[in-house]
Amino acid sequence: MTDGNFLIQAHQLTRIYPMGRTDVIGINRLDLEIAPGELVVIKGNSGSGKSTLLSLLAGLDRPTGGGLTVAGVDLAAATESLLTRYRRSVIGMVFQNFNLLPTLTVMENACLPALLAGTAYEQVAGKAVDLLRWLGLEHRKDHLPSQLSGGELQRTAIARALINQPQIILADEPTGNLDSRNGKAVVELLAGLNRDRQRTVIIATHSNLADPHATCMIHLKDGEIAGRA
Ligand SMILES: Nc1ncnc2c1ncn2[C@@H]1O[C@H](COP(=O)(O)OP(=O)(O)OP(=O)(O)O)[C@@H](O)[C@H]1O
Ligand SMILES: [Mg+2]
Repeated sequence: MTDGNFLIQAHQLTRIYPMGRTDVIGINRLDLEIAPGELVVIKGNSGSGKSTLLSLLAGLDRPTGGGLTVAGVDLAAATESLLTRYRRSVIGMVFQNFNLLPTLTVMENACLPALLAGTAYEQVAGKAVDLLRWLGLEHRKDHLPSQLSGGELQRTAIARALINQPQIILADEPTGNLDSRNGKAVVELLAGLNRDRQRTVIIATHSNLADPHATCMIHLKDGEIAGRA
């Protein structure tokens, strides 16, 4: 059953990794509802299921049980082609290790998801330049990832995450490879997207940098919600 007021609805959501004779629990019978416009911070020890949950929400992985509906898309039942379209249009992802393509420039990395979605380069380029300017990266647009600082790499990844104007930004330990100044800057950017551009932002992290911006804190333990505040 889905409720139109929620952007994300998980019901008994489960992701078990079968490993030979034993099963490893990623996410276990998790019930979760998130309204549009929230900034959710997910905490929990290493192995508690944070990345597993983000992968499921991103449509990069599928549940092994239960239901998950995001932005009206039933992710447990979606076909591969629907999942691909969902990943490109609904979700923007930011990772700890940036995941940029090393042979593409900042500009090309930022444009890539829109080009893959079939948008013409002329249309994408203007939007990408606007984003890079907003992120203070305009002067780096023709540089390769190997020529950038950590903060610049993560801001490039944020440009890439935003190019298709996704409703939801998922960030998996986005400040894990950054010093505290750059970490704070990245969190401020994510918080600004939530506050000023009404994006729903979900951040899985060990750090406390995003806590002051959270509208909701979720604590995971062994793939289950141990607390919500
Ligand atoms: N592809 C996989 N195959 C098997 N087990 C996996 C796989 N991915 C994750 N797991 C297991 O699922 C559990 C949850 O892992 P997950 O990566 O979601 O934790 P996490 O909270 O993100 O941890 P960290 O804080 O270290 O990033 C762990 O026990 C992990 O070993
Ligand atoms: Mg993780």
